[in-house]
Amino acid sequence: MANLIIIGAQWGDEGKGKIVDLLAEQVNCVVRFQGGNNAGHTIVVDGRKFILHLIPSGILHPGKMCLIGNGVVVDPAVLVEEMDGLLRGGLPVSPQNLMISRHAHLIMPYHQALDLARESKKGKAKIGTTGRGIGPCYEDRAGRTGIRVHDLFDESLFRQKLAQNLEEKNFMLQQFFGAEPLALEPIADQYLALGQRLQPFAGNVSQYLDRIMGTGRHVLFEGAQGTHLDIDHGTYPFVTSSNTVAGHACCGAGVGPTRIDAVLGVIKAYTTRVGGGPFTTELQDSTGEYIQERGGEFGATTGRPRRCGWLDMMVVRSSVRLNGLAGLIMTKLDVLTGIPALKVAVAYECDGDRPETMPNELRSLEACGPIYEEFPGWEEDIRGVRRFADLPGNAQNYLRAVEEMAGVPLAIVSVGPGRDENIILQHPFADR
Ligand code: GDP
Ligand code: IMO
Ligand code: MG
Repeated sequence: MANLIIIGAQWGDEGKGKIVDLLAEQVNCVVRFQGGNNAGHTIVVDGRKFILHLIPSGILHPGKMCLIGNGVVVDPAVLVEEMDGLLRGGLPVSPQNLMISRHAHLIMPYHQALDLARESKKGKAKIGTTGRGIGPCYEDRAGRTGIRVHDLFDESLFRQKLAQNLEEKNFMLQQFFGAEPLALEPIADQYLALGQRLQPFAGNVSQYLDRIMGTGRHVLFEGAQGTHLDIDHGTYPFVTSSNTVAGHACCGAGVGPTRIDAVLGVIKAYTTRVGGGPFTTELQDSTGEYIQERGGEFGATTGRPRRCGWLDMMVVRSSVRLNGLAGLIMTKLDVLTGIPALKVAVAYECDGDRPETMPNELRSLEACGPIYEEFPGWEEDIRGVRRFADLPGNAQNYLRAVEEMAGVPLAIVSVGPGRDENIILQHPFADR
């Protein structure tokens, strides 16, 4: 396959960054198509750890073009900081390896202020957003009042749009939320300066992709968040504000669906979730704490502890359907080492019923309890294992059972955070 979409098949933080970095070797170009700096993608290469929020996880490979598509919401200060961080670390970042869509929407300071004010007003009912202004920015995109990357390059237009927006946002901030209003001048100065820095990187991502795909070069589409955080198909309202499913890769990058060859979903060997919302297999006991500690389950963006629980095949099977997954990539199998008995939710029990698929309406999902199947665990350290046959028998059985229940094969099993800590079962680019 040539053009491949990688998405998260749970609630985010599945290890997409690590996997995209691994597969980036085989492609010419890596594209982000949705989300913003709510994402935190961690990559570990030769013991060095990088956390990327906006720049695609191909940037650590020399000579790979990284694209930020129109569907991404860009906080320009965060982007410039991320670029500078990579440069300080000795990694090249230039218009030769990074392009930002001129049509991507900008996260403005009032988006972040509104995000925080809204969450605080919700009190206990808060979503638990990352507080990065993601929701309010997507609202403005849909409301057709958003400011896009190319607006930064026209000072008078930028000032005019900013003034119009501030009038409305300050009214909301002051009158509805009782928060401080924001002043125009400091924002204009900051954003116009950032615009100058970003101008050489701005381009037409759709056109670029069309050109390189037309010459047979290969593209990896890097999802952010996870399928069950999708604005339409996730556990609404405990979701993010973009479509995270594979179908959106086309809209968010400006390519047609006929260009895509396959979609793979990344899952952890267990489940995690950050923020509020239903989590049927959540563990609030010492096993949950064991997984959280061994797995280092603390947010890459906000540092918040991630809620941990057993693998949930209802979640995974919905993701197979919603994304048309051709296969799965499982990360963090090593974290389960030492747990005597592993549980996997194979179905739900809902008021005496067994729903065929995971309900995505809040009340129905909250009424569901897990039906578990138990698998014996293993004690051996598996981080050094590189072949399926060398895994402990119980780990092999766990993986085979997951494949069977998912109805799609496992392509890769990751056994550590490092780039080379993998068992490759079916290389996604093997038939290229
Ligand atoms: P993403 O948002 O999907 O890219 O995932 P995050 O980077 O937020 O979280 C995944 C975390 O797990 C990161 O700290 C990775 O370094 C780490 N990780 C990825 N794969 C493995 C693995 O197979 N084993 C272990 N122990 N850690 C892993
Ligand atoms: P990556 O790409 C995990 C969650 C937040 C919150 C909800 C809405 O690293 O997998 P938002 O700020 O988007 O309005 O928050 O979505 N969330 C994530 N959880 N990983 C992420 O990204 C996330 N991005 C957003 O915790 O529950
Ligand atoms: Mg993450």
